[in-house]
Amino acid sequence: MDTANKIFVAGHRGLAGSAICRKLREMGFHNLVLRTRHELDLRNQTAVEDFFAAARPEYVFLAAARVGGILANSRFPAEFLLDNLAIQSNVIDAAYRHGVKKLQFLGSSCIYPKYASQPIREDALLTGALEPTNEWYAIAKIAGIKLVEAYRKQFGFRAISLMPTNLYGPGDNFDLQNSHVLPALLRKFHEARVAARGEVVVWGTGTARREFLHIDDFADASVFLMLHYDSPEIINVGFGEDIEIRDLARMIADVVGFSGGIVFDTTKPDGTPRKLLSTDRLKCLGWQAKIGLREGIERTYEWFRNQPEDPQDDPARRRADTGPLVERVRN
Ligand SMILES: NC(=O)c1ccc[n+]([C@@H]2O[C@H](COP(=O)([O-])OP(=O)(O)OC[C@H]3O[C@@H](n4cnc5c(N)ncnc54)[C@H](OP(=O)(O)O)[C@@H]3O)[C@@H](O)[C@H]2O)c1
Repeated sequence: MDTANKIFVAGHRGLAGSAICRKLREMGFHNLVLRTRHELDLRNQTAVEDFFAAARPEYVFLAAARVGGILANSRFPAEFLLDNLAIQSNVIDAAYRHGVKKLQFLGSSCIYPKYASQPIREDALLTGALEPTNEWYAIAKIAGIKLVEAYRKQFGFRAISLMPTNLYGPGDNFDLQNSHVLPALLRKFHEARVAARGEVVVWGTGTARREFLHIDDFADASVFLMLHYDSPEIINVGFGEDIEIRDLARMIADVVGFSGGIVFDTTKPDGTPRKLLSTDRLKCLGWQAKIGLREGIERTYEWFRNQPEDPQDDPARRRADTGPLVERVRN
């Protein structure tokens, strides 16, 4: 990949896509092709086809997807399945047919079986039942992985699939209706401190363990793998350590300066009991995460506090408008 190459970062306003763009620009890649969802709806096959025919990108980072937490997954199973199938099929197929030199597809750690042995190795894929709370999204992502594999096998298309762990950082979605656990907790604790509330309620027992990777570390790995990895095997991108949700909640409360109580609502689901990715394959290539969890949370909180109050300008709120097929949810 040369710094003059034309690179399409799909989903460039999202958490992963925006960080990949920052990293690419930092490294001197200046010929980025970017489209918002309103300019190019990747669910629309004709629009995607026309875009590739006209723009002719040489490299593609596919970081556009319908993304959300347990609540969003359980409310919109049809959109999580259909939107993701459409986005990835349209982009992968058009990229191949319009001569893209290499494509990177982003899967997710939720593609692995609910009870996969830990840390989860790449070969655990399709060895057991999925976590039901996000199986719609996971099934779509598994189809994406298989599509990448099939295009490599049948057409020799240079496409790779990364399986990132939970990502967090500047640019994250802080909407409580459809955000992931870390930004949701950060916002809850922040609002509780500002309103001087005595306690914060956290979903689940707090004993589930999760791994978190700062988005700048992820972007670093993403570009590194685009440059140095070319294999049909999927590859995990993780931090290498996990943490109990209750310890994460305490850490966030501390960073935010919230001194009240933390109550765990055990009537709410925990999701998968533990999810830690094996990073052996990535480490063998010479890559390792650098940003520790506490430092990463502090950096994210700093960013969050500097966001505009006006909902029109607030990316966290803007992300709530993800255009469901069936109905719009109003917070
Ligand atoms: N966040 C995580 O913890 C995590 C973990 C593992 C894997 N991943 C994977 O990383 C990728 C990116 O996730 P993210 O967290 O960056 O998501 P995100 O912040 O929600 O961003 C999603 C991006 O996708 C774009 N998009 C959504 N629907 C689209 C459509 N129909 N047409 C065109 N663009 C569309 C959005 O465009 P607009 O900005 O224009 O709305 C947005 O830029 C996904 O494949 C996800 O599965 C994320």
